[in-house]
Amino acid sequence: MTGYSIATIPGDGIGQEVIPVGQRAAEAAAAKHGFTLSWTEFDWSCQRYAETGQMMPDDGVDQVRNHDAIYLGAVGWPGVPDHVSLWGLLIPLRRQLNLWANVRPVRLLKGVQSPLAGRTPEEIDFIVVRENVEGEYSEIGGRLYHGTDQEMAIQEAVFTRRGTDRIMEYAFQIASERKASGYRGHVTSATKSNGIMHSMPFWDERFEVMATRHPEIATSKYHIDILTAHFVLHPDWFDVVVGSNLFGDILSDLGPAVAGSIGIAPAANINPDRTAPSMFEPVHGSAPDIAGKGIANPVAAVWTAAMMLEHLGEVEAAKTLERAIEVSLESPVTRTRDLGGTADTAPCAQSIIAAIGQ
Ligand code: NAD
Ligand code: IPM
Ligand code: MN
Repeated sequence: MTGYSIATIPGDGIGQEVIPVGQRAAEAAAAKHGFTLSWTEFDWSCQRYAETGQMMPDDGVDQVRNHDAIYLGAVGWPGVPDHVSLWGLLIPLRRQLNLWANVRPVRLLKGVQSPLAGRTPEEIDFIVVRENVEGEYSEIGGRLYHGTDQEMAIQEAVFTRRGTDRIMEYAFQIASERKASGYRGHVTSATKSNGIMHSMPFWDERFEVMATRHPEIATSKYHIDILTAHFVLHPDWFDVVVGSNLFGDILSDLGPAVAGSIGIAPAANINPDRTAPSMFEPVHGSAPDIAGKGIANPVAAVWTAAMMLEHLGEVEAAKTLERAIEVSLESPVTRTRDLGGTADTAPCAQSIIAAIGQ
C-alpha cells in the first residue's frame, strides 16, 4: 500500500486545535482510498522558544526535508515578538525549502453565506498565487538612530527576474489547467506601478512578457488599491490573481473574507521544482483571541489537508475531503460561529469525519 510521511508542526494557538482535526480527516480519507499516512510531530512553537530560546533546532529545516510533505498550523503568540517567531520558523522553512509559490484558493462553498449580498458559489471561485520568498519580505534594511528624532526604519524590496518570472509562469500554468476544466483562463496581476516604486514597473514589464507566452490566457492588471475594492465589488471578475509577497498576503485574507471567513481558507506553499517537500498551512494565524476555547473553525485545516493529499497525487481522497467539508457546512449546528453557526470545533470536526465515511 502506498504510504506518505508527513512532518507535522501544529505550532501556536489554534494551530494546536485544528491540525489534529486535519490529521484525523486525512487519515479517514486515506483509509477510504487505500493509502497510509505516517506523521512525525515537531513541537516547534513560541512555547518551545520560551523554554529553549529557539523556535526550532539549528538543523530544523533538515529534519523536515526528508518527508513527503509538511503540515503546519500557525506560528506566533503574544509575548514573543512576531519578527522573532516568524523569522525563526515559518520564513526559514519557506525560503530554505524553496517554497516559492503560495497557492491560496478562494471559493464560496455551498452552505456558506458571503457577506456580499446575493453572491453565489459560481461567482466567487478564484486562486491567489502569491510570490513567497522575496519581494517586500526581505531582510535587507535596518533601524537607525534609535530613540532620536532622526529615528528611521529602512526596508528594501527584492524583485529578481527569476523570482518574478517563475511565479507569473506558475500563475499562467494554473490558469491554463483551470481553463481545461471549464474556467475562463484569465490571470489578473496585482500591481502598483503608478510611479512610486521601482519594483512595480519591473513587475508590469515581466507580466507583459509572460502574458505574450500565453496567448490563450486573457489578462488584466489593477493597482492594488483599486484591486482590493474590486475583490469586494466584483469577485466574479477573477480566475487566477498573481501578486507579490505582500500584495498576495493582503489579497489572500481579503478573498476568504469575501468567501465567508478566514476560518475556511487553505494554503499550499509549493516547491514546484520538487527539490524539497512542499508545506501546507491554513491562511489564518494562531488566533490568540479564541485559542484554547475549542471554537476555532477546523475547515481551513481540513481543506489544507485536501490540498496536501492532492499534491501527493491522491486526487480522489482530496475530493472526498472537500465534499465532506461541504456536508458539514450545510447545517448551522455543525458550522462554527465565524460562519454564523453554533458549533464548537468538535462537532464541526465530527461531522466532517462522519461525512468522509459516507
Ligand atoms: P489570525 O488569523 O490569527 O486571526 C485574525 C482573526 O480571525 C481573529 O479574530 C481570529 O479569531 C479569527 N480567526 C482566524 N482563524 C480562525 C478560525 N480557524 N476560526 C475562527 N476564527 C478564526 O491573525 P492575527 O490575529 O493577525 O495573527 C495572530 C498571530 O498569528 C500573530 O502572531 C501572527 O503573526 C500569526 N500569524 C501566523 C500565520 C501563519 O503561521 N501562517 C498566519 C497569520 C498570522
Ligand atoms: C501568512 C502570514 C505570514 C505572512 C506572516 C505570519 C509572516 O500572514 O502566511 O499569510 O505574511 O506570510
Ligand atoms: Mn497573511
